[in-house]
Amino acid sequence: MTAPKSVSAFSGLDVLTHSLESLVAQDSNTITDALAEKAASVILHNLVECYRHGDNEAARKVVHEASCAAGMAFANAGLGIAHSIAHQLGANFHVPHGLACAMMLPHVVLYNASKSDFALHKYAEAFKKSGLVSNSMSDRIAVKRLAVQIQHMMVEMDCPQTLKSFGIDPAEALKMVDTVVDGAKKDGTFPGNQLCLQTKTWLHCTNKSLNKFREEAHLCHRKSLPSMPGALL
Ligand SMILES: [Fe+2]
Repeated sequence: MTAPKSVSAFSGLDVLTHSLESLVAQDSNTITDALAEKAASVILHNLVECYRHGDNEAARKVVHEASCAAGMAFANAGLGIAHSIAHQLGANFHVPHGLACAMMLPHVVLYNASKSDFALHKYAEAFKKSGLVSNSMSDRIAVKRLAVQIQHMMVEMDCPQTLKSFGIDPAEALKMVDTVVDGAKKDGTFPGNQLCLQTKTWLHCTNKSLNKFREEAHLCHRKSLPSMPGALL
C-alpha cells in the first residue's frame, strides 16, 4: 500500500502479460484459460484504480487475487515472446520487468493474432468476456481494441511505452538489437509461444518506437507442426 505508484502499475501490467501470454501459450488448456481470462478481466477493470487510489483495498485485493490466478495459469501453460524480449530489455537496458512486458504486449498480441486464428479468437474471446467490448464485435476488431486498451492503461498510469521514452538513446538501443534478439531466442519463455519464428525476429528500433518487433519470413504453428520448432530456432 505504501510502495511507489509505479510498483502497482508495473506489477499489474506484468499480471496482464502473464494472463494474455498464457492464454495462447503452447500448453494452455481449459483450466489455465479460465484462470487467465478472469485475471485479465480483473486487471483491465481494476489496475488503473489501484494506481490512482492506492488506498482502495477492495481493488487491490482483487488485483492481488488476479496475480495469483495468472501465476497458476502461466506456471502450467507457459508464456511467450513478450516475456522473452522483456527479459532482454531488463538485462540490457534496465527496464523494470512489468514495464518491459507491457511495452511489448500490445505488439505481441497484434502479431500473434495476425498470424494465428487460434490466438486471434482466444484474445478476442477473453476481451469480450471482460465486458469492455460487445460480444457481437468481430474478433479482429476486438483484438485491435484490446491492444489499444493496454496502451491506454499505460498512458493512464504514466508508463513510458518505448525505450526512447524510458530514456534510452536510440543509437545505443540499435547497437544492441542482435544481442536482444539472440538472448530472447534462448529465453526459457520463448518456446511457449504458439508461433515459432522460423528465421529472423528482431527489435525494430526507430526514433518513433524502439520496442516494436517484427518478423521476417514465414512462421509455423507449433500445434500443426510439432516437430519443427526446436530445429528452427
Ligand atoms: Fe512477468
